[in-house]
Amino acid sequence: MKFEKEILCIGAGYVGGPTMAMIAYKCEQYRVNVVDIVPEKIDQWNSDDLPIYEPGLDEIVKKARGRNLFFDTDIEAGIKAADIIFVSVNTPTKTYGVGAGMAADLQYWEKTARQILDCAESSKIIVEKSTLPVKTAQAMERILNSGKNGVQFEVLSNPEFLAEGTAIADLENPDRVLIGSQQSQSGLKARDELVAIYANWVDPDRIVTSNIWSSELSKLVANAFLAQRISSINAISSLCEKTEADVSEVARAVGMDSRIGPKFLNASVGFGGSCFKKDILNLVYLCRHYGLEQEADYWEGVVSINEHQKERFVLNMLTAMFNTLAGKKVCLFGFAFKANTGDTRETPALTIAGRLVAENAQVVISDPKALDNARQDTKELKGDIQFIEDPYIAAEGCHAVAIMTEWELYRTLDYKKIFVSMQQPAFIFDGRNIVDHEKLFNIGFNVFPIGKPKKVHF
Ligand code: NAD
Ligand code: UGA
Repeated sequence: MKFEKEILCIGAGYVGGPTMAMIAYKCEQYRVNVVDIVPEKIDQWNSDDLPIYEPGLDEIVKKARGRNLFFDTDIEAGIKAADIIFVSVNTPTKTYGVGAGMAADLQYWEKTARQILDCAESSKIIVEKSTLPVKTAQAMERILNSGKNGVQFEVLSNPEFLAEGTAIADLENPDRVLIGSQQSQSGLKARDELVAIYANWVDPDRIVTSNIWSSELSKLVANAFLAQRISSINAISSLCEKTEADVSEVARAVGMDSRIGPKFLNASVGFGGSCFKKDILNLVYLCRHYGLEQEADYWEGVVSINEHQKERFVLNMLTAMFNTLAGKKVCLFGFAFKANTGDTRETPALTIAGRLVAENAQVVISDPKALDNARQDTKELKGDIQFIEDPYIAAEGCHAVAIMTEWELYRTLDYKKIFVSMQQPAFIFDGRNIVDHEKLFNIGFNVFPIGKPKKVHF
């Protein structure tokens, strides 16, 4: 069969894989090829055991794979054949040199741009799918258009707004698809080609176009605003704990103002995930780069409150458990950075596990999907750590349970059974406010929620 378009995606990660699976699933007329430098990852995408867990992903991959969706390691051939190339490689925080710990590390991006330049034999549209600092497209255009063989590249910005755990629903029914382009004739033509791809399933009102710099910046700002809401409610959670106010009641009252809205106001042990921290630090770095010190300090506060919230959680545990955790066994319910994903990047659970081990506590980690990642992540922690998927077995003989991830499973466990299997007095620290605190207190637990009065039997 002859396909209308050859689409390539470089980077088969949490964004590249699901995004391309959705395009292929919705658009049989395009051939979608996803490549990566890690062959094992491509093997997994071609197997029944996909490299990431995401509700609904297996189904759409199964429908499209082999039909018009392909996972491959031949990046060069992929570039040659493509009309449109999405670049979805990782853009972590730089760990070296100028901007270390703050700026985005663009080495993977730049390597990709140079590889495209080296291999391309015909003109192409290059789509920035990765989250990048504003003005990256300019650097990309300069690299890409430095070739002498007459091949032309048009760079578009099309940041991805999916959240893990709901990626498929987000991709199928996005709040918006943002496409930034140069305002030149060729830029607008390329933009329209990309609009046409999404228009196969996305309502035209939700496909928003803008200039390329606004698009790049909007992605960083969207993540900064989302994280800011969590840090705002978390900052209030500390005040609630001091004043007997209840953070859930405050969030409900505040969120009912239609100008504020109810979403993203769940106080927690802190936000995790690969992007919030990195993207805010990137925004802070950009502000400082342009001499905007106060603006940089403002956004940096969002990250500081998040670090503080995790530390506060551990200190609360320590104080509650008679100022020593040494030799005590603490079970973490959940290790993923949020529910419905196996992803553990920047998970608060790792920070908490590290701090518990530093207090000489024994740690038992339980999670329905993230135990393999948890084993990897905790390798460097020198301490007594066990990994047990079954929450009942994991909690047996423990002094405390700390809920780290809001998995539905943890709401509905038989806490009576858990209570009797634990050391007494038994403690529960609910880092997600997901269990019935009154009920657990009545079972006999000493209960420590976030931003709500504690319930203790002594
Ligand atoms: P990821 O680490 O899961 O995937 C990136 C992939 O790119 C990896 O598989 C890596 O092997 C591959 N890669 C790196 N260099 C390559 C190269 N030169 N050639 C081919 N493959 C290469 O990362 P991710 O979570 O998918 O994030 C990708 C980008 O999307 C980041 O910029 C991130 O900020 C952004 N983003 C992520 C999410 C999310 O939920 N994870 C959501 C929106 C945006
Ligand atoms: C986030 C954004 O929601 C996406 O729009 C964006 O595309 C993505 O980052 C990205 O750029 O990577 P994600 O990190 O997958 O998505 O998940 P979120 O649902 O945003 O949750 C992030 C963290 O905040 C999690 O640890 C979650 O538990 C925590 N959270 C969320 C709270 O503590 N309270 C809340 O009210 C909401």
